[in-house]
Amino acid sequence: MGVTVIGVDGAALPDGSAEALEEARLVVGARRHLDAHAPDHARKLELGPFQPALNALTALSADEHGVVFASGDPGFFGVVRTLRERGIRCRVLPAISSVQRLLAKAGRSWDDVAVVSPQGRDITQALNVCRARPAVAVLTVRGAGPAQLGSGLDGWRRTLVVAEDLGGPNESLTTVDPADAAARSWREPNIVLCLADPDAVPQRSWHAGGDPLPPEPGWALPEDEFSHRDGMVTTSEVRAVALAKLAPRPGTLVWDVGAGSGSVAVECARMGAATIAVEPDETQVVRLITNAAGHGVDVRVVEAAAPQALRELPKPDAIFIGGGGSDVLAACAHAGATRVVAALTALDRVATTRDALRYAGYQVEGVQLAASRLVDLPDGAPSLQPTQPVVLISGHRKTPGEQS
Ligand SMILES: C[S@@+](CC[C@H](N)C(=O)[O-])C[C@H]1O[C@@H](n2cnc3c(N)ncnc32)[C@H](O)[C@@H]1O
Repeated sequence: MGVTVIGVDGAALPDGSAEALEEARLVVGARRHLDAHAPDHARKLELGPFQPALNALTALSADEHGVVFASGDPGFFGVVRTLRERGIRCRVLPAISSVQRLLAKAGRSWDDVAVVSPQGRDITQALNVCRARPAVAVLTVRGAGPAQLGSGLDGWRRTLVVAEDLGGPNESLTTVDPADAAARSWREPNIVLCLADPDAVPQRSWHAGGDPLPPEPGWALPEDEFSHRDGMVTTSEVRAVALAKLAPRPGTLVWDVGAGSGSVAVECARMGAATIAVEPDETQVVRLITNAAGHGVDVRVVEAAAPQALRELPKPDAIFIGGGGSDVLAACAHAGATRVVAALTALDRVATTRDALRYAGYQVEGVQLAASRLVDLPDGAPSLQPTQPVVLISGHRKTPGEQS
C-alpha cells in the first residue's frame, strides 16, 4: 500500500499529484475536493468520519495506491498525524496552509502569530489565547467560528480578519470588530486572524508563535517592577507561591479580584494567561493600566467592585483574591474556577476562607509565608529584614478530565 496526501488550496494541485491520482485505486477527501479532482477510475470515499477511510486505506494491498485530499498543508493540524498514528506512512504533497494564505492576503508577516485549533474541544482555550496574545490565527470549526469568537471577545480590544473560502469562488477577507463578527453569519470554510492592533508591526523574534513565556526577566518579579502604593503590592515571595497555585498558562483565564496595582494579573499575563483585573479604586486602576502597559501585556481592567462586577465575566480557570470581604469570597468560590487563591493578612479570615472553599468543593491548603530578606547593614554585615507575613489559602478542584 502506498498513500499520497495531496494538499488542496484552490490553486493547481502540487507537482506529482497527477501521477499519484493516475495510479490511485482509492481516493479519500471532502466532497468538494473529490468533485474537483478525483479521477473516474478510482473508488471515492467521502469524509466525514475518518475511521472508514482509515480502514479502507489499510485494506489496500501492497501494490495498490491511495490518495487522501486535505486542505492546505496536511502536515499542519492536518491528516498526516492521524495517518501516522494508524501506522500509515505517506508521501505528502503540500499546498499552502490556510494560515499562510490568510497572512499573505493581509500583507503581514506571521512568524509571531500563535495558531490555535479548537477542533475536538471547547472554544474556551482558543478564546483565552486570543484574549491574551496580540496575534492569533484560529483554525475554526463549526460551532467555534468567527461569530463565537466575536462574542467571546466582548470586552477585549481586538480586530478580527475573517477569511472565507480561501482559493475558492467565494473567497473574501473581512475586517470586523468582535461585536460585528458576533452579529452575522459566515461562510465555511473560514479561518480567523485575531489582532490586538491591526497596524502594529511585530518585532523580530527567534521563536515562531511569539516569544517563549514568561519573557525576561522571568517571574515573581520584585515589587519595584510595579507602580504601587507603599505596602499595597503582593510581595515577590508571596506572588511566587500564588502563581504556582494559580498555574497561569496559555489557554487559561485568571481573575485578579481586588487587584490593586495588578502585580498578580500582570504576572499571569506574562505567563500567557488571559487576565481580568477587578479593582474599584480609580487611582489603583491607573497604576494597574500603567503596570500592564509597562510589561507589554494585555490585562482587561474592570473598574468596579466585586462581587457585582464578577457576574458578567467569562468563567475563569483560576482566581486570585487580593481584597474584598466574605461576599467576594463566596462569589469567587462559586464562579466555577479550578483554582482559587486568597491572600490574607487578617487572621480572623483564615478559617472562614478555608471553610467557604471547602464548602464549595475545593481541596484546601494553607500556608503562612513570612520571608526575611537578606540586606546589608551599614558596616556591610548581612542582616535579615522581615516582610509582612501573609497567609495564602488555596483551593484546587479537579477538572472533569482529571483523574480522581
Ligand atoms: C483541520 S484545519 C487544517 C489546516 C490545514 N492543514 C492548513 O494548512 O490550512 C482546517 C482549517 O482550515 C480552514 N480552511 C480550510 N480550507 C479553507 C479555505 N478554503 N478558506 C478558509 N479557510 C479554510 C478550516 O476552516 C479550518 O479552520
